Amino acid sequence: MIGTNVAQGASFLSQGQLIAIPTETVYGLAANALSYEAVTEIYRVKNRPKFNPLILHCANIDEAKNYVLEWPEEARLLSNEFWPGSISFLLPKSRLVPDLITAGSSHVVVRVPNHPLTLDLLSRLSFPLAAPSANISNTVSPTTAQHVESSIGSQIGYVLDGGPCSVGVESSIVAFEGSNVVILREGGISQEDITALGIKVKESTRSEIQSPGQLIRHYSTCKPLIIVKNIQEWVNQNPEKSAIALLYEEKEISLPCIVLSKNYNLGEIANSLFRGMREADKSDAEIILAESIKPQGIGRAIADRLDRAQS
Ligand code: TXA
Ligand code: MG
Repeated sequence: MIGTNVAQGASFLSQGQLIAIPTETVYGLAANALSYEAVTEIYRVKNRPKFNPLILHCANIDEAKNYVLEWPEEARLLSNEFWPGSISFLLPKSRLVPDLITAGSSHVVVRVPNHPLTLDLLSRLSFPLAAPSANISNTVSPTTAQHVESSIGSQIGYVLDGGPCSVGVESSIVAFEGSNVVILREGGISQEDITALGIKVKESTRSEIQSPGQLIRHYSTCKPLIIVKNIQEWVNQNPEKSAIALLYEEKEISLPCIVLSKNYNLGEIANSLFRGMREADKSDAEIILAESIKPQGIGRAIADRLDRAQS
């Protein structure tokens, strides 16, 4: 069932049931993070391996602090600036956080999402919400209530409809190392947004803690997605192939296409990326083409999602 009734959503959650929630990034599949049974159900519905931990969603900064043991100066600066918003923090967990949420890790990822319905919902609850993206594992994340309804709708109590997500790619996930911030997943808040606050960003290396979900193929379309240097050149070289292109600006090409932005606006491209990938999957074409994107600002998150869809 899809609806906009926050009280009804809260009631489902309080009874230990799952609902889908809108956030500014993507829709989440939410459950009472403190209930073993409810969280187990998240892993089952998503077909998510138990070793892939979940983000804890809280109503505000003070609530988030209850679930972690440290609050570095950089976390203070970033949360004051960006929460509610599209950045999540990896920090040592307090004993209130069940091991099922963190897949046994001593660290938990916390965030305060920025959507009026979900903030209202969180403020009514006496527990935080565990919420991965509301898709089956390794498929494209949902950015509308209808995306959720059409994939896992029949398995959950309620889809809280907050309209299309305003950001359209997942939150950035960061860890703290001394006075540096390490970006584990590029997302809605960019490296440039972080350094603008005077915070140093360190490149994430393989030896450091990783977001486990980052190690595997992810965000996959059903059809093969290929990143090419120049779409028209590729078409000229492969005239027999049936393809559809994801475009970052309006231009003439001899191929069906989905225009993600009229004029290479990175925010718009991020916002329509997952919808475009879904649409391309539904088309008659056999292959999805995209050009590589400027690795700047939210462009880094877009590049990351395209790479993972391709690999
Ligand atoms: O924007 C978002 O973050 C969305 C919305 C719904 O809030 N949520 C989301 O969750 O993207 P999910 O589960 O699809 O991605 C969370 C990522 C996964 O790659 C997971 O491995 C990583 O965060 N993660 C979560 N807890 C972790 C932990 N304790 N240690 C390391 N990585 C963690
Ligand atoms: Mg996900």
